[in-house]
Amino acid sequence: MTSTVITGIGELTTQDEELGKLSDAALVLDDDRVAWAGPAGQAPEADNRIDVEGRAVLPGWVDSHTHLLFAGDRTAEFASRMAGEPYGAGGIAVTVGATRAATDEELAANLRRHVNEARAQGTTCLETKTGYGLTVADELRAAEIAAAEVDEVTFLGAHVVPGDTDAGSYVDLVRGRMLEELAPHVSWCDVFCEQGAFDAEQSERVLRTALRHGLGLRVHGNQLAPGPGVRLATKLGAASVDHCTHLEEPDVAALAESDTVATLLPACDLSTRQPLPEARALLDAGATVALASNCNPGSSYTSSMAFCVTTAVLQMRMSVDEAVRAATWGGARALRREQGDGAVGVLRAGARADVHVLDAPSTTWLAYRPGVPLTHSVWSRGVRVR
Ligand code: NIG
Repeated sequence: MTSTVITGIGELTTQDEELGKLSDAALVLDDDRVAWAGPAGQAPEADNRIDVEGRAVLPGWVDSHTHLLFAGDRTAEFASRMAGEPYGAGGIAVTVGATRAATDEELAANLRRHVNEARAQGTTCLETKTGYGLTVADELRAAEIAAAEVDEVTFLGAHVVPGDTDAGSYVDLVRGRMLEELAPHVSWCDVFCEQGAFDAEQSERVLRTALRHGLGLRVHGNQLAPGPGVRLATKLGAASVDHCTHLEEPDVAALAESDTVATLLPACDLSTRQPLPEARALLDAGATVALASNCNPGSSYTSSMAFCVTTAVLQMRMSVDEAVRAATWGGARALRREQGDGAVGVLRAGARADVHVLDAPSTTWLAYRPGVPLTHSVWSRGVRVR
């Protein structure tokens, strides 16, 4: 076991209720855990010492919503969208075709490339979904490949109905053989509850079956229009409902009263020319908000959590502290990983040693210097990865 003290921290954002935000701070990492965080003058000795010369330090980003198990390219779809075509879920079928045709090695290499890209930008905890396979065998191999590379794997068999079957038979397949085969390999089940994908009744049947298999629930909801996604997620006690682009007042109230995190995906809304979510209404009502990249080849091809934070501050009226919290602690809460030994999205004794050092004196620079790469160094589970 080797310990390292990081000194010279100009601003330390801990996301811990008691420690809060500190200036002139230090952080001690011991193996893969944080051993201590606090004022520089009280820092215990450690085997190694690294001086970050006044830079800002925060927990690594927790990206709680991505779709990284894919092959193929949808540049042309994006270009037509920028020329005025609306986004629909139709492009998902293009990725399904390319993903089915890819070898395991190609899928794993593509996934690793994106995980490394995210890590180099400060992302140290990642969720990813299946959902571009849509057969028992293709969903299963996606889950197995993902489990080797990311922290949390979500089964999204109910992404869209594949072209060669009808909705009723497909929902039966998802609730039957797919969940039986997939449940041992994943922690979560997600459903795309939206017009053009699955309606409230179909979504509820899938999610209730997933609960019986012991899986946690997540919902894609209210992405393209107002709809039943948020209400379904809060009713079933889902950990998170993601997108939340088109909310009505009862949705905001339901989220505020529930333990369901509203996960906002602003890069997706920009890339699909949707309005940005009403973050202010959610926060003011008392809902828990997370920010995530939704990195996928169709609706949001970015792994940059900093871009999401910048957008949230500049265009969604979130403060820098709110946006940074949503992209660290909020993501961890959406994955139910914010507490206990090995917690992520927080820097306190016992948390996972996931540390992001900015080449900036404060997190304010994430919005003050939009688009400028500010990641200076990154520790993931105590190992320096950048
Ligand atoms: O979160 N909403 C559904 N799924 C993805 C889109 C995936 C795609 O277009 O390939 C999303 O935006």
